[in-house]
Amino acid sequence: MGGSIGVLDRTSSVYIAGHTGLVGSALVRKFRAEGFTNLLLRSHNELDLTDRAATRDFILDTRPDVIIDAAARVGGIMANSRYPVDFLSENLQIQVNLLDAAVAARVPRLLFLGSSCIYPKFAPQPIREEALLTGPLEQTNDAYAIAKIAGIFQVQAVRRQYGLPWISAMPTNLYGPGDNFAKSSSHLLPGLIRRYEEAKVTGARSVTNWGTGTPRRELLHVDDMASACLFLLECFDSDSHVNIGTGVDHSIAEIAEMVAEIVGYAGETQWDTTKPDGTPRKLLDTSILRRAGWRPRITLRDGIEATVRWYRANLDAARQ
Ligand SMILES: NC(=O)c1ccc[n+]([C@@H]2O[C@H](COP(=O)([O-])OP(=O)(O)OC[C@H]3O[C@@H](n4cnc5c(N)ncnc54)[C@H](OP(=O)(O)O)[C@@H]3O)[C@@H](O)[C@H]2O)c1
Repeated sequence: MGGSIGVLDRTSSVYIAGHTGLVGSALVRKFRAEGFTNLLLRSHNELDLTDRAATRDFILDTRPDVIIDAAARVGGIMANSRYPVDFLSENLQIQVNLLDAAVAARVPRLLFLGSSCIYPKFAPQPIREEALLTGPLEQTNDAYAIAKIAGIFQVQAVRRQYGLPWISAMPTNLYGPGDNFAKSSSHLLPGLIRRYEEAKVTGARSVTNWGTGTPRRELLHVDDMASACLFLLECFDSDSHVNIGTGVDHSIAEIAEMVAEIVGYAGETQWDTTKPDGTPRKLLDTSILRRAGWRPRITLRDGIEATVRWYRANLDAARQ
């Protein structure tokens, strides 16, 4: 395989870093379903990407044709604000080690994944790619965002210095099988599913959610995310990072109502307006990706139904 884009040979070796995570496991499902026969997978235990020497040895030994960086220390608001230096330092180390090793091996294709938190807190909505670095970040996850911004710049610098067609993508909020259902997690959808499911099982009369329910959120099913990643690797080349999303948002109240209905919870929903709402709206402008020819396929309703089924079937395995 050369250093240009185009349909990937299904025998190409593809290293999916972070393959046990929400995004990584969806990538494994997608690439297997598409007939890729040579996936390189190493768990965090087998290869700690903060270990620079081990990372370099692994990449130089295996010389992947493609790398997708879905490995990161990820957390909700609470973890991010409590351990900012861990989020900054570990994510910088993971990226720098992996990308430096990939340069040493001249890996022809690499996709770096960031997140929509890289954008300024008050970026105009929907958020376009060029909003990057036009204003201050949301303070609760600025350390994580700075690490991800550094990753985008490292990819751009490699393109300039080595001419490798590496790219970066910034997904919106993701959900799906393998999500984090932990009680302390601030992830919207798994939190709602868990709360309504528990209320149904215990027969609780009402469910109380934080805030007013009016903020709007964009949600992308992680299987659509995985399909966008493969699409980008095969069909997209740009110096700029690219947004991945649905381009559509819903109020939290609408999402909660849909979850209650799908779970089969007949009780009441209450809103604790003494609790913070968070950003009123966070929607990515996905016109670049759409113009390139990709669009999501999984409707929010179908995606929630599938996630509820997964949660019920994996109560023990679900990260609680
Ligand atoms: N989830 C979302 O809504 C969302 C939205 C936008 C962007 N993203 C981006 O997508 C990427 C993946 O996120 P995710 O939600 O899939 O996170 P996740 O479920 O927490 O998965 C992270 C993966 O990285 C691995 N990992 C962490 N530290 C590592 C290390 N030092 N060495 C090797 N592996 C390590 C984890 O392994 P262990 O679990 O064993 O530590 C896990 O496999 C991140 O860049 C994130 O910013 C996610």
